[in-house]
Amino acid sequence: MMRISEVTVRFGSFTAVDGAGLDVPAGTVTGLVGESGSGKSTLARAVAGLTPYAGRVSGVARGRVQMVFQDPYSSLNPRMRIGDAIAEGSRVPRGQRAAEVARLLELVSLPAAYARRHPRELSGGQRQRVAIARALAAGPELLIADEITSALDVSVQGAVLNLIRDLRAELGLTMLFISHNLAVVRYVCDSIAVMRHGRLLETGPVQDVLGAPQHPYTRTLLDAVPCLAHG
Ligand SMILES: Nc1ncnc2c1ncn2[C@@H]1O[C@H](COP(=O)(O)OP(=O)(O)O)[C@@H](O)[C@H]1O
Ligand SMILES: [Mg+2]
Repeated sequence: MMRISEVTVRFGSFTAVDGAGLDVPAGTVTGLVGESGSGKSTLARAVAGLTPYAGRVSGVARGRVQMVFQDPYSSLNPRMRIGDAIAEGSRVPRGQRAAEVARLLELVSLPAAYARRHPRELSGGQRQRVAIARALAAGPELLIADEITSALDVSVQGAVLNLIRDLRAELGLTMLFISHNLAVVRYVCDSIAVMRHGRLLETGPVQDVLGAPQHPYTRTLLDAVPCLAHG
């Protein structure tokens, strides 16, 4: 179980995350939703150890959190071959790297031959698969996906979400899945945490939070997505 307790992140006098508390049980996917600017990415960066914070994050060893970001192109070095990018974070001995890269590419449903390609030769969806493979190469205890379908064409978003569902079933991943899109969160997550102005307002199983929201703000978010609000 990954536990976030009373995490606060300040930028000068501005409090971006304000005493956030959240449990992510092992092998489950927790969705973090909220409007743009609510503090989702800042909380994620604190959990990943990428930004200083007050409070406590327990249940994951330092350095065992991997993040996948919104824009797969900026997170991949354009000069590096896909195979090298994936192998970079891997812990296997040098002699086993090619086999490990092939295994990871297969895991994200890309042909093994893509190991020799460069990022520009791939589509946005394929690059996001590479970013996921690279994150998995490190054998993370927690995988954080921050708006990973938001920059993709609508036509490939579903395939990437299905990949996340498959990987979760196959590998038993523990994930924090960030999205401003409630429909996306409902599709891939077990639990949901609603964030606003740096605070976590409501947390619980997806069916409970979306079916019978306790907080008025969650209701407001739901009302903005008619097909969810009405079934
Ligand atoms: N490095 C930073 N310096 C100052 N303010 C920041 C920094 N990073 C984020 N913020 C501010 O913190 C708030 C939350 O940002 P962010 O965590 O990116 O929100 P979200 O991911 O929910 O859209 C925003 O008001 C943003 O402008
Ligand atoms: Mg963000």
